[in-house]
Amino acid sequence: MTEAIVKMEDVWKSYADGDYVLRSVSFEVPRGEFVGVHGRSGSGKSTFLRLIGLLDRPTKGSLTVVGEDAARLGASDSARIRREKLGYIFQGFNLVPHVTALENIEVPMWLNGVKGDERRERAMADLKRFGLEHLAGRYPREMSHGEQQRVAAIRATVSRPELILADEPTSSLDDESAKTFLGLVTKLNRELGTTVVMVSTDPDEARAGTSVYRLGSGSLSRET
Ligand SMILES: Nc1ncnc2c1ncn2[C@@H]1O[C@H](COP(=O)(O)OP(=O)(O)OP(=O)(O)O)[C@@H](O)[C@H]1O
Ligand SMILES: [Mg+2]
Repeated sequence: MTEAIVKMEDVWKSYADGDYVLRSVSFEVPRGEFVGVHGRSGSGKSTFLRLIGLLDRPTKGSLTVVGEDAARLGASDSARIRREKLGYIFQGFNLVPHVTALENIEVPMWLNGVKGDERRERAMADLKRFGLEHLAGRYPREMSHGEQQRVAAIRATVSRPELILADEPTSSLDDESAKTFLGLVTKLNRELGTTVVMVSTDPDEARAGTSVYRLGSGSLSRET
């Protein structure tokens, strides 16, 4: 049985003064999947991802994320679920600038109360597992954007969240680093079984996913 990790039913979203950005969107993500969503700038991709990431709420409709009904979550429960069960990768400049790659990766575990030695070991183990141990002692300013985004991906998964959300994670990278980054996300998805939802303006990038959707005119349609 595949359990849905995200279930959106007839979701509408508008901001204070505006028209609907999302119009009757229904969407379901089975556990373990890597979903790519593409759409033009302004089509509502970040809006869509913020709803799934429990950073905002639907105007109408129902949304369940990692088994939690978004409408029933208060601020502190939603903060806890974000911390314990979700991982985020954003466009760029994700890392804390004044600490090393290794320490950056420790941050989510630190927030979840994992003790120092164990934190360090787990962070190092993931860096090694994905072939990035040479970056452990580097500060963000000593790494390329591509390396920083790979470290950010490791950081997003080190606490083994149930779901990772990525918003245009390669938009500041060149083609080669974008490919390497997407290869890493694919590996995280396959090896750790982490479910991924990634949005991008680039259809080819979205097609790195195992299922692909397009967002346009407020509607979500499945491509593959
Ligand atoms: N906090 C907000 N308040 C009001 N309007 C907003 C807010 N956030 C987004 N919007 C509007 O919602 C629409 C969709 O924005 P969104 O950021 O979701 O698009 P996007 O697809 O992520 O675009 P991009 O590819 O440029 O990041 C836009 O018209 C935008 O102006
Ligand atoms: Mg956006």
